[in-house]
Amino acid sequence: MDVARTVEELGDARRVLPGPVGFVPTMGALHRGHVSLVEAARADCASVIASIFVNPTQFGPTEDLARYPRPELQDLAMLEAAGVSLAFLPAVDVMYPEGNATRVRVGGIAERLEGASRPGHFDGVATIVTKLFNLVQPDRAYFGRKDAQQLAVIRQMVRDLDQPVDIVGCPTVRDEDGLALSSRNVYLSAAERAQALSLSRGLRRAAAVYADGVRDATSLRQFVEDEVRAQPLANIDYVSIADATTLEELAGPITGPALLSLAVRFGTTRLIDNVTLGE
Ligand code: PAF
Repeated sequence: MDVARTVEELGDARRVLPGPVGFVPTMGALHRGHVSLVEAARADCASVIASIFVNPTQFGPTEDLARYPRPELQDLAMLEAAGVSLAFLPAVDVMYPEGNATRVRVGGIAERLEGASRPGHFDGVATIVTKLFNLVQPDRAYFGRKDAQQLAVIRQMVRDLDQPVDIVGCPTVRDEDGLALSSRNVYLSAAERAQALSLSRGLRRAAAVYADGVRDATSLRQFVEDEVRAQPLANIDYVSIADATTLEELAGPITGPALLSLAVRFGTTRLIDNVTLGE
């Protein structure tokens, strides 16, 4: 596996890679979820490029940028073992050189849910993903469905800006007990982790109730809220049932695909999870 840290090194290594080229952008602290994205890319591309970049512009001023885990050697070993052809690990001043002043801003769906709770977050995501697409020039890019809104925002951006990349959404990977894999899970104490299982449990039970025929959005939302609120260490940021395409909040009977999603804090750790109903 080649490793590039500058734009020039990336360009030189990219030029000789056979296509189609798949791209897996990450912030490192890799886990099986990231490996599954690489595997999906390998399944339909001749070469896979992965990036590791903890993107400062998508973190709010009180968020965990400084303490975000950066186990570089371990991450590189995982990418190599997963069959990545080229890893791109730029420093902050490579992606944001002195004097940079341009941001990509997606409206509409980027303003709800995570966008409302984390102002500026999706501007940072859209900007860095655009820059990475410009540098890597992938044919396809792979994103996890655990970040369902991020996936929707990137699809919207690619459509609106005519970016020549196919966006592939991949299933959420979970631990055996149901907890969605996340680089932030390492922050959880044992007690917090045990109570964090209420997220996937609540979603799973709501999905079962939906499958039994319950369609009322308010009842389904309440169902998940009750499950999580029963955990003394859990602090709900939001529980939402929204139209799966527009992410507009639903009330009354659900008539089409709906994204049931939530964000919950355990101490200073913020977790998200979701399930799509009626896909
Ligand atoms: O999902 C992530 O890890 C990040 O938001 C991404 C897409 C790599 C952009 O920094």
